[in-house]
Order: sequence, then structure tokens, then C-alpha cells
Amino acid sequence: MSRVVWLASAGSTNTEALEQARLGVPHGWAVAARTQSGGRGRLGRVWEARPGNLYLSVVLRPDVPPDRLPWMTLGAGVVIAETLGPPFAVKWPNDVLDDQGRKVAGVLAEAEWTDGRLDALVVGIGVNLVDAPPGATHLAEHGRTVSREELAETVCRGLASLDPATVPSRWADRSCTLGRRVRIGEVEGRAVALDDDGALLVATRSGRQRVVTGDLGFL
Ligand code: BTN
Repeated sequence: MSRVVWLASAGSTNTEALEQARLGVPHGWAVAARTQSGGRGRLGRVWEARPGNLYLSVVLRPDVPPDRLPWMTLGAGVVIAETLGPPFAVKWPNDVLDDQGRKVAGVLAEAEWTDGRLDALVVGIGVNLVDAPPGATHLAEHGRTVSREELAETVCRGLASLDPATVPSRWADRSCTLGRRVRIGEVEGRAVALDDDGALLVATRSGRQRVVTGDLGFL
């Protein structure tokens, strides 16, 4: 059974999904658009729409404590990297890169809370299938012809059945981050592990530091 509702166009599929989440759609409901006019990226960036790429948002209603929620968003990167297979891997927190460090997919998770309780987590996913901005990559460049509809269904199923307890080891298996020298804001050092809440632990000259969010660059 198809789970994904397809729109010819949307402002942002995350906005559509957040609206539907407020109206009560169930866990695993998803919306995709063939194009977006107002795609949002992490850290307030714009996610440009290029024809033929995937713009997907999945509504999740996971029963996890708030401090374990990052595993659901980290899990989105894992599901994409596992679905695409090598050479694609996850860069903390949840970008998916090829083996030359070029981005093929990104994840923007947005949560709806009522009185401190999570109502819904919308996981928005952009995958470059046939085109990409300068410096990024797309699947066609790797010789992959992928059906947008099938990829959307597979990723949606993977997210709807995601058990956060499985994410730490799966993330480590698909990571292109651990063991590398990185910089996130002021923090510079070697990425050594993820903490219990998904924060990145970085071994710096002044000791181990925890990073909970930010933009990671490789050194
Ligand atoms: C990032 O890497 O900055 C995250 C990009 C997320 C883009 C997707 S496209 C589908 C969904 N709708 C949005 O407006 N953003 C996400």
C-alpha cells in the first residue's frame, strides 16, 4: 500500500506535513512534492528545488523520551544511507555524503509539542536524484537511476519502522564522521563517538567536548 501523498508542488513539504500532523494524520503518513517553492534547510538555509529530485516529509509519532528524540533524526540519515548503500555515508548530524564528501541528501526535522509532550516529529528529506547545486552530488552522477516514488516509499517505510535503540550502532556503521578531524563552530578535534543523546563527542586539545548541534566541517 502506498503511504506517500504526492503533490505537484508545495511551498515546503515540511509545512504541509506539520499542518497535517496538527490535523491528526497517523505515524508514517508522508507527503512528497514534485517541486517546492520554499524548501527549508537546516540552520535557516534555503533548500533549492531542482526538477527531478526528491522532496519528502514523513510524520512520526514516536514514543521516545525527549532526550532520545535526536536518535530519530539521526536515524533518518541512517535510513537514507542504508537505502542508497555505498559509497554513501552519514555526516553528523544527518547529512548523507558520497566518498568525496559531496552531499547527496539532507534532513530537516521539526517537532510539534503540546505542554512539553511531543505530538509529532516531521522528518523532511531532500535527495538529489538527477541534479545538485555546485559542490554537491546526485545519484545519476553515480550511475544510479532511482525511481523517485520507490525511493520515497522505501525511506518512508524505513522511518515508520525505525527503532531508535538500533540507531547508535547503525549510525556508527554508516558514519563518515567518526575518527575524522572536524570543526564545529569553535570546537576543533577528532570526532570520537556519539553520546547517549546523539551529541557528537570531539577529542580536542583541551579534552573531550560535547557538541549538540551545528555545522560540521572536515579538516
Ligand atoms: C539540510 O541539509 O539542510 C536539510 C534539507 C532538507 C530539505 C528537505 S526537502 C523536503 C523537506 N521540505 C523542506 O522544506 N525541507 C525538507
